[in-house]
Amino acid sequence: MTTKMLTEQDIATAAMAIKTGQLVAFPTETVYGLGANALDETAVKKVYQAKGRPSDNPLIVHVSSVEMLRNYVKKLSEAALKLITTFWPGPLTLIFSIEPDTFPSVVTGGLSTAAFRMPDNQCTLRLIEAAGVPIVGPSANTSGRPSPTTAQHVAHDLQGKIAFILDDGPTKIGVESTVLDLSEPEQGPVILRPGAITQAQLAAVINEVTVDQHLVGAAETPKAPGMKYKHYSPEATVWIVPEVSNEKWQAAVAFGRQQQQKIGLLLPEFLAKEMIDEDVLVVSYGANTVENATKALFAGLRNLDEQGADLIFVQGLPEEGLGIAYMNRLKKAANRNIFN
Ligand code: TXA
Ligand code: MG
Repeated sequence: MTTKMLTEQDIATAAMAIKTGQLVAFPTETVYGLGANALDETAVKKVYQAKGRPSDNPLIVHVSSVEMLRNYVKKLSEAALKLITTFWPGPLTLIFSIEPDTFPSVVTGGLSTAAFRMPDNQCTLRLIEAAGVPIVGPSANTSGRPSPTTAQHVAHDLQGKIAFILDDGPTKIGVESTVLDLSEPEQGPVILRPGAITQAQLAAVINEVTVDQHLVGAAETPKAPGMKYKHYSPEATVWIVPEVSNEKWQAAVAFGRQQQQKIGLLLPEFLAKEMIDEDVLVVSYGANTVENATKALFAGLRNLDEQGADLIFVQGLPEEGLGIAYMNRLKKAANRNIFN
């Protein structure tokens, strides 16, 4: 199979491919997704195959309207409606209880719940609309690799394995959506995966929001099955540099040189300028904001990997606001290596 790049002019082609059971990678505001008709078991199985994804890891169902969601979730609570009104389209995935046989079990991993989101991307909303069916979409990378934030990243991993890639340029946010479980009313809403919509933003709308104990280190088994797998890993070994300081970065590079390894750095511009040297690969994310760092994280890891880095040092940032999602992904990529 040859994989073809499409643009916003080709939505009809992409929609036809979805309707006929083919795979189409699509843009969102978070990362690129690997799309298939959520109602077509054979098509959804191809998604797991193309990614090499463990089949007990359920998928997010992407919808283009609340009406579409209502076909699958009969009762939307008041809290759910408030969240939808406030945050959709946007980087918030909501988990609801569903009736048996709503989706093929490959979508839900056999759970009695399903995850839904309305992505904030016009091309993709038009694609879902034109296909007339909800579209499953895990991140469009080979399982375990950094998630794709450009169409080129998708092509790198999935060339020859999928029919089309709908290219709408680099994604705005850079990490996957916040996953919020609304399926257990007694327990209240629980964040299963941190993302760009923070606990404080959610709490401002629905008062009580807790965080899955797994995310804060207490419980062994995460409720979102996907959180237990190795994730976001480039070929290189990743180290977190926990302070935004020249001295810390000098020490990290000195350590890398001692290992006699090819060193790559992903850091803010003002520090990058100080670190440029012929034996180091340097990728800057511009001004030192958590938004810039988040947008550049996966792309930077991929870039340094391709340039042949053996050790990649990445700027660690405070775990507050978007920094919680950023550090969640970075710690996984780094397998918790922190350069102290
Ligand atoms: O931003 C995103 O969410 C991207 C874009 C493409 O929309 N998609 C994405 O999908 O990150 P994926 O498949 O890589 O992550 C889905 C996460 C996994 O951790 C999965 O285990 C969890 O959501 N999940 C899905 N259905 C679930 C369910 N019924 N109960 C608990 N967790 C669920
Ligand atoms: Mg993923």
